[in-house]
Amino acid sequence: MAPRRETVWLAPSLLSADPGALAEAVRAAEESGADALHVDVMDGHFVPNISFGPGWVAAVRRRTRLPLDIHLMIESPEKYVRKFAEAGGTTLVFHAEATDQPEEMVRSVHDLGVGAGVAIRPETPLAQVEPLLDRVDELIVMSVHPGFSGQQFLPEALPKVRAARARIDRDGLGVELSVDGGVTVETARPAVAAGATFLVCGNSVYARGTVAENLAELRRAVDLGRRDRSEVR
Ligand code: DX5
Ligand code: ZN
Repeated sequence: MAPRRETVWLAPSLLSADPGALAEAVRAAEESGADALHVDVMDGHFVPNISFGPGWVAAVRRRTRLPLDIHLMIESPEKYVRKFAEAGGTTLVFHAEATDQPEEMVRSVHDLGVGAGVAIRPETPLAQVEPLLDRVDELIVMSVHPGFSGQQFLPEALPKVRAARARIDRDGLGVELSVDGGVTVETARPAVAAGATFLVCGNSVYARGTVAENLAELRRAVDLGRRDRSEVR
């Protein structure tokens, strides 16, 4: 992933796609100019839902060259990172709340030759992951309680995004700043204005309409957010 760039990346979340037509969802996203794909991995313990495993990631990898952002909403992530790296994940993002040894997690993910990211739930303070920011490739600020797509964006995520952006810029860090949950044409704009560089979009891409039109509308919202941001700076 390339965090030091001018554009904001849009990553459709496959959790919102029709599970029976996953290949079509991947193809539509790639053809419509998605920058990455987001894959939600859930174990029924860390979150009250179950979704994709390494076999699914490998199947997606066979169908696209897009970067795969693997969001590990699982307990004991250290037991599974190798499998997700081998399956073709580009960046493996573990939850700060799921490990007592985050530095060790980052190191072992990097040793597998892939990107390492950390995600925080809405109730977890940024301070918990600040010591990691100089070594991770991505920070996901969750703007819903993890587990399901199609939830409402929690605006309390925005001050956290602003604080993370300030810290990343102050220290000149190359961290992708991602917002995940409830990103729509309405909420993309404030998320980007707050400093997000990567937006995970589930239902806003796949629930209705066409993937191409939905991504185009989200792009326009991103442009407005970037304008807002350049005005406050
Ligand atoms: C929620 C997942 C999200 C979700 C996003 O636990 O981490 O990635 O799929 O879907 P929307 O954009 O519909 O909230
Ligand atoms: Zn996610």
